[in-house]
Amino acid sequence: MAKGYNVLFVTSEVLPYSKTGGLADISNSLPQALNALGNEVRIISPKYGQLDERRLQIHEIKRLKDLKINIIDTQSKFSIKSSFIHGKNTKAQIYLLENQDFFKNKGIYQNIRTKKDFPNNDERFLFFCKAVLEILEILQWKPDVIHCNDWQTALIPAMLKRIYKNNLHIKDIKTVFTIHNLAYQGDFASSTFKKTNLPESVLSEVGFAKNRFNYLRTGLYYADKITTVSEKYAEEIRTKKDYSCGMGDLLAKRKKDLSGILNGIDYSNWNPSVDKIITYRYTYQEIPLKYENKRELLHKYNLEYKENIPLIGIISRLVDEKGFELIVNILPELMKENVQLIILGEGDEKYQKFLTNAKKKYAKKLIVHIGFDENLAHHIQAGCDMILMPSKYEPCGLTQLYSLSYGTVPVVRNTGGLSDTITDYRKPDGTGFLFDNYNGKDFLTTIKAALNVYKNNKQKWYTIIRNGMALDFSWKVSALKYMNLYKKVVSS
Ligand code: ADP
Ligand code: GLC
Repeated sequence: MAKGYNVLFVTSEVLPYSKTGGLADISNSLPQALNALGNEVRIISPKYGQLDERRLQIHEIKRLKDLKINIIDTQSKFSIKSSFIHGKNTKAQIYLLENQDFFKNKGIYQNIRTKKDFPNNDERFLFFCKAVLEILEILQWKPDVIHCNDWQTALIPAMLKRIYKNNLHIKDIKTVFTIHNLAYQGDFASSTFKKTNLPESVLSEVGFAKNRFNYLRTGLYYADKITTVSEKYAEEIRTKKDYSCGMGDLLAKRKKDLSGILNGIDYSNWNPSVDKIITYRYTYQEIPLKYENKRELLHKYNLEYKENIPLIGIISRLVDEKGFELIVNILPELMKENVQLIILGEGDEKYQKFLTNAKKKYAKKLIVHIGFDENLAHHIQAGCDMILMPSKYEPCGLTQLYSLSYGTVPVVRNTGGLSDTITDYRKPDGTGFLFDNYNGKDFLTTIKAALNVYKNNKQKWYTIIRNGMALDFSWKVSALKYMNLYKKVVSS
């Protein structure tokens, strides 16, 4: 086995402690996959106010209790607690950072009650970045690499290079920065910059929009290597203006340090033959059991199960980027078809309202569940015939990978990770239905193509299901790619 690396994986979301989207799944499964390859990856994440220490088996570390940190002209106390995440034969240690000034409230980025972003998100994640570096001296474990994820961790490479550059203990640690979504940037007023204690030279080196200070941009500038979560998205953000979210210049400059590594999925959690959440477990040979899950799901919402009516699912954050404009646009037409539709999501008020009204209008065939419900996501994957993902852009997307595993045929836009993972149904190894142009007409035409195969060509339909279920998106290949990258960065 190749020599392993010590890696501190820094993230703002990790299952089962916190989740708003795919980052939480990746932060759980990638470190474990890397550990299985002989690395020692430890995770660090904030301990948000809602975390239940007993249920999640979070323990105190005496030595790391009541530490002090100078931050934004004051002193703040914090403690590092510890817990473990486990897979089938794998595990990873997680440090949870507890602090009363910044992470006492319930909510990850938003106040749970008001659903509004915390007004001090700049300070919360500045504190997080600084605390991560401060504990390294007392941890008695030194990483070769700090692996940062998304804007919440993006000040770490800059701090390492510009504030801790003379600190003998940590100055030679390398950084890898993974972009899970370029559109979320941590873009704040320039007054935030002063709070960071970074030297003024950073402003001219990185270059920010007038009166702004941008965490993501800072990370992309100072990280030793940059990755994103599919090859196609890596190319899109570097070469297409619509995708580069104002970072095109910087990404072009960093071209040789930017690569795409496709996310893997955790088959001990998302696999219909072992899934403990669903009622009827099944393999490809047992598709009738999938239909028992469908029957149960429909029954739960008082809809009738009928043999030849497809149940279509959507599991998504309700935001523009996931293509909800298109869903709003086509819903009346789609509801004229002989289909049933179940939507699970939470997010923008305008979409929540629209769906709540639509539920009343189409009560006989539309189920809408507004909220975040991990168990229901499994039931939908197991019970539906198809899943829709008309994303405007999609860095990787995990939902379609889970769908492939559950024999739920994806109908997706041909972009980013969706392009890299779904093969057009017209090919012998086809796994789903893709449309190119971001408009309702093409989306609807593609859904109708899927309905046509479902209703009129069952043999083909089962071939598509089988092709998808046979694919292997486990972490093996991608985790090795990360390991190679660590090797490169450590020896650079
Ligand atoms: P993104 O990270 O952009 O939201 P992904 O497809 O990578 O998109 O990951 C989405 C993850 O979040 C999946 O695990 C999906 O099951 C889950 N998810 C999204 N919305 C909900 C919801 N309302 N309830 C439960 N799980 C959800
Ligand atoms: C982001 C992206 C999604 C990706 C996930 C995990 O939330 O929007 O496409 O799958 O991160 O990398």
